[in-house]
Amino acid sequence: MKVLVIGGGGREHAMAWCLAKSKRVTKVFITPGNGGTAARLPRPSGLAITNAAEHTKSNAPIENIALDPVKDPQSVADFVKRNDVKLTVVGPEAPLAAGIVDIFRKEQLPIFGPTKACAQLESSKDFAKRFMKEHGIPTAEFETFSDAEKAKAYIHARGAPIVVKADGLAAGKGVVVAMTEQEAIAAVDMMLLDNKFGDAGARVVVEEFLEGEEASFIVMCDGKSALAMATSQDHKRLLNQDQGPNTGGMGAYSPAPVVTPEIHARVLREVINPVLKGMAAKDTPYTGFLYAGLMISPNGAIKVLEFNCRMGDPETQPIFMRLKTDFTVLLEAAIAQQLDQTQAEWDSRTALGVVIAAHGYPDSVRTGDAITELPLDTDDCVTFHAGTTMNNGQVVTSGGRVLCVTALGGTPKLAQTRAYEAVNQVKFSGMQYRSDIGYRAIKT
Ligand code: AMP
Ligand code: GLY
Repeated sequence: MKVLVIGGGGREHAMAWCLAKSKRVTKVFITPGNGGTAARLPRPSGLAITNAAEHTKSNAPIENIALDPVKDPQSVADFVKRNDVKLTVVGPEAPLAAGIVDIFRKEQLPIFGPTKACAQLESSKDFAKRFMKEHGIPTAEFETFSDAEKAKAYIHARGAPIVVKADGLAAGKGVVVAMTEQEAIAAVDMMLLDNKFGDAGARVVVEEFLEGEEASFIVMCDGKSALAMATSQDHKRLLNQDQGPNTGGMGAYSPAPVVTPEIHARVLREVINPVLKGMAAKDTPYTGFLYAGLMISPNGAIKVLEFNCRMGDPETQPIFMRLKTDFTVLLEAAIAQQLDQTQAEWDSRTALGVVIAAHGYPDSVRTGDAITELPLDTDDCVTFHAGTTMNNGQVVTSGGRVLCVTALGGTPKLAQTRAYEAVNQVKFSGMQYRSDIGYRAIKT
């Protein structure tokens, strides 16, 4: 069968790579895709094969399709009909918030993802917080404001540290963890008065500061049941030892030992099941990936920091390196509402992905730097592309997070060593990466 992945980041490269491995798949389309999913990577000396299609003969070919799933989702539905695509999976939040799943459903085209109504769990922090309160899902205490003076009075009353969040989608930059009241007030000014995030910042959520260790808990939902993906942990800060500004994620690994079997059961009981019940009660049953960003306190209490209505990036890359079950089988079971009868099998090894970012990330990113010495993909190490494009036969940078080099190893340390061996081969001007991905899982 032919399948389609919507998106063009590292997460979507990993999804396309996973689908291309399925014996049932004859062709993987991806829109818009990136330099790593481009149909044919040229191979001048030193430039490796990074396209799964070329890597193993049995893999299905991958082809980039130049469509705009956010501005013109209908064109994607038309493409699917014209090309007899049997299964579509959506990576990023923007096409979901734009309603691509609703359009596909109207035309009875099989797609896995949340509807626009469900995507509000990510696209509006206020919606998510109210939903959690209503359904008894543990989360930080909060208030929502559109009036700057009222927000500041609340901040003064609560004191620092305190967290200020833009209500809408702000490309991962709408959260300020303020260690002083002054920082929190400045964040309110930036969002409500200076309009830094436009409509996304027209309301702010001010919430209690939580301490503990974070983990990403991702499940597939079919409206009634959930199937847990392998656990993972992201590294949000730019620099080693979790210093520097927040980013979209500088690396991730799976499994995350902080999610013990007890915590796993607790998250399903206290978070995931109430979301399924609560969304069904609103007549908007939740379908698609659901990502709960968790804070786990030292005494094992869990609180939800955020919901995303998609898989994480870069969490997907190590998670999918470990997936042994055919991804099409999981997608079909979810679309047929049969996740309660489905299991996913995972490689018992650790997978660890290191993001290599461009010059200037996460602020003003420089693009157009030529990437050389891409490592050859092997069974235990794959270079997933994100912000790359093909330019006259050369792979060049085209976004903030450029590559995610992901490796498997028998222990977190071995996975880390293997990943950095490959990272150290890559060369492009201005590249930056953390050298401590996975440190929490590695006991010295
Ligand atoms: P979010 O997009 O809501 O997940 O926030 C981005 C990052 O900010 C999270 O991954 C946390 O590291 C941090 N953060 C968000 N909310 C809080 C909170 N209430 N307390 C402490 N840190 C937080
Ligand atoms: N890596 C965090 C996210 O995808 O939101």
